[in-house]
Amino acid sequence: MIISRPDDSGIKRAAEIIRSGGLVSFPTETVYGLGADALNPIAVARIFEAKGRPFFDPLIVHVSNIGMASGLVQGFPDRAGLLAERFWPGPLTIVLPKTGLVPDIVTSGLPTVAIRMPDHRVALDLIDFSGVPIAAPSANPFGYLSPTKAEHVMVQLGGRIDMILDGGPCRVGVESTVLKIHGDSVTLLRPGGLGMEEITDLIGPVEWGAGPEVESPGQLPYHYSPDSPVRIVEAIREEDLQIKNAGFLFFKKPGFPYPAGSSEILSDDGDLLVAASRLFSCLHRLDKSGKKIILAEAVSEKGLGLAIMDRLIKASRRVRNETE
Ligand code: TXA
Ligand code: MG
Repeated sequence: MIISRPDDSGIKRAAEIIRSGGLVSFPTETVYGLGADALNPIAVARIFEAKGRPFFDPLIVHVSNIGMASGLVQGFPDRAGLLAERFWPGPLTIVLPKTGLVPDIVTSGLPTVAIRMPDHRVALDLIDFSGVPIAAPSANPFGYLSPTKAEHVMVQLGGRIDMILDGGPCRVGVESTVLKIHGDSVTLLRPGGLGMEEITDLIGPVEWGAGPEVESPGQLPYHYSPDSPVRIVEAIREEDLQIKNAGFLFFKKPGFPYPAGSSEILSDDGDLLVAASRLFSCLHRLDKSGKKIILAEAVSEKGLGLAIMDRLIKASRRVRNETE
C-alpha cells in the first residue's frame, strides 16, 4: 500500500492503478472515497470486498465533467440539469435512470445510477488522468464512521487497498446529499453536505425518504456508527460529566469546565459548517479512546444541521449485527 502526496506524479500513479483495476482512496470535499474504475466490474467488486459492503448497496459514480455524466444516464431532466449546473462540482449526488454502460454491480442491479462531480482538485484530476468515471463509496468498513482524513483510511482499510492520496482533511466533512429524480418527483434519499434549503430554493419541494422499502442503504439505521454507543442529548449538563467512562461530544464550547481528554467540541461558537467538517474526526477520536458511552449534543436541523443529526441519530441507533 502506498500513501502519496496528491501532486501530479502521485495522481498519475493513482490513475494507473485505477486503469489497471486497482483501488485508490482519494480525498473529496465531503469524505475520502474508495475508488475503482466504474466501468470495470471486477475492479468494482474489489471495493465491496475491501469494505465488507453488501452487494445490495449501490455505489456513487464520480465524474469530472458533464460529458462524462451524459454517457452514464439516459438524459438530464430539467430539474437534474438545473441542479447540476448550479451545484456541480459540489456535495450533491443525483440518481437518474442509467444506460447500459454502467455495470450492474455498480448499481446493485437497480435501473438507476447515482452520479456526483466532487468539488476537489485531486478527485477531479484523478478522474481526468484515469479517463474513466470512478465508482467510490466512503473509504470505511461498511457501517463504520466515514473517513475525513487519510489516517482514518489508513487505520481502517490500509491493508486492503493499493494506494491513498493524502489531500489533508476534508472541507465539508459529511457525505453528499443524495437526490433521486424520477418522472415529476424529486426524492431526498440522504441529507448531506448541501443544505435542503438551497435545493428547494432552486427546484421547489422535494419528497422525503424513499418510500416503504429502504432504497438507499444510507437510510439503514446502523450506518456511520462508532464502536462505542452514542446517546443524543439536548445539552450536556455539568452533572453529566460525572458519568463513568463517558466521552462528550459538545456542539459548542460549554460554559463550565470540561475534561479535555474525554471531550470534543464540534465548533467553539456553534457554527454548523465547522461542526460538520469536524464531526467524524471528533467521533473517531472519542471512539479510539474506548469509552463505554458517547454523549452527543443535538444540533438544530437547519442547513448542514440536518446531515449532522442524521449521522448522529444513525450512530445512536447502532445495532452492530450479522450483516457487518
Ligand atoms: O460524499 C459522498 O457521497 C461520498 C464521497 C466519497 O463521494 N460517497 C459516499 O458513498 O458517501 P457511499 O457509498 O458511502 O454512499 C452512497 C449512498 C448510499 O446510501 C447508496 O445506497 C446511495 O448513495 N445510492 C447509490 N446509488 C443509488 C441508487 N441507484 N439508488 C438509490 N440510492 C443509491
Ligand atoms: Mg458510506
